[in-house]
Amino acid sequence: MTPEHLTADFESVQAHYDLSDDFFRLFLDPTMTYSCAYFPTGKETLQDSQIAKIDLSLGKLDLKPGERLLDIGCGWGSTAMRAREKYGPKVVGLTLSKNQFAYANRLAKGKDGLEFRLEGWETYHEPCDKIVSIGALEHFGPQKYEAFFARCKESLGRNGLMLLHTITTGTFKKSFTFLRWTHFLLTSIFPGGRLPDPEQVVGHGRLAGFELLHAESLRMHYARTLDLWAGNLERNRAEAIKVTNEETYVTYMKYLRSCAPYFRSGEINVFQFLMRAI
Ligand SMILES: C[S@@+](CC[C@H](N)C(=O)[O-])C[C@H]1O[C@@H](n2cnc3c(N)ncnc32)[C@H](O)[C@@H]1O
Repeated sequence: MTPEHLTADFESVQAHYDLSDDFFRLFLDPTMTYSCAYFPTGKETLQDSQIAKIDLSLGKLDLKPGERLLDIGCGWGSTAMRAREKYGPKVVGLTLSKNQFAYANRLAKGKDGLEFRLEGWETYHEPCDKIVSIGALEHFGPQKYEAFFARCKESLGRNGLMLLHTITTGTFKKSFTFLRWTHFLLTSIFPGGRLPDPEQVVGHGRLAGFELLHAESLRMHYARTLDLWAGNLERNRAEAIKVTNEETYVTYMKYLRSCAPYFRSGEINVFQFLMRAI
């Protein structure tokens, strides 16, 4: 039997992502990518910058046709799709959201080598060559970090690469306002979520048998992404209220608008960690 702390958190994850695809469509880009974008020149559209982020992430993994890639926390499927089409590995994407699973399955229909599962990493035991995980670690909670890295190491064996992209804590000048804001974010928006310290990510990786090859902060890129999401949602206010309700719209505007300043000030950060299993 799986220990209690190792069961996947379907309920809290679905509470966020299964709100309504029509609602998320009103502020995300057409690929429905829901994580920090990457603006190499600062002039990209949101969609181009999301594709640039996906390519930045997949490029670090040096993917080859015939390899097996595991996407932990695949969202609506954009990274897995791009990986399969542009870089050629066989891809399995895991999500705990029913809506994302249904949506991603529609994308994968008729395409071989691209599979989505409504499953957490907690129960996934198959071997793979590479792992990408973008914006999912924030959901796990520190009680699972040790098991998460051990499970990734077990799937990768030796020499496999993992690209872990996650929001982290930032500088340590924590104010009461900041603590109140994290409480709002991790209870009202992402119930059960926690932000790891960058050192915790690297440390747990090392204990499980990973070496850190590269770490990159995308902090200012997340601030810009959030500004664009908030602008989109604000422009689509009437439709957003129609597909959800006024309270949801107000809460999401508060969430999207309030995160960007904390990325700008450095009180929170977002990193891509490239690790190799040794
Ligand atoms: C912020 S979304 C990011 C989605 C996608 N990577 C992207 O960049 O658009 C977080 C994803 O993590 C997934 N997730 C959360 N906990 C998970 C778990 N224990 N196992 C697998 N996926 C999980 C959610 O279902 C969701 O798809």
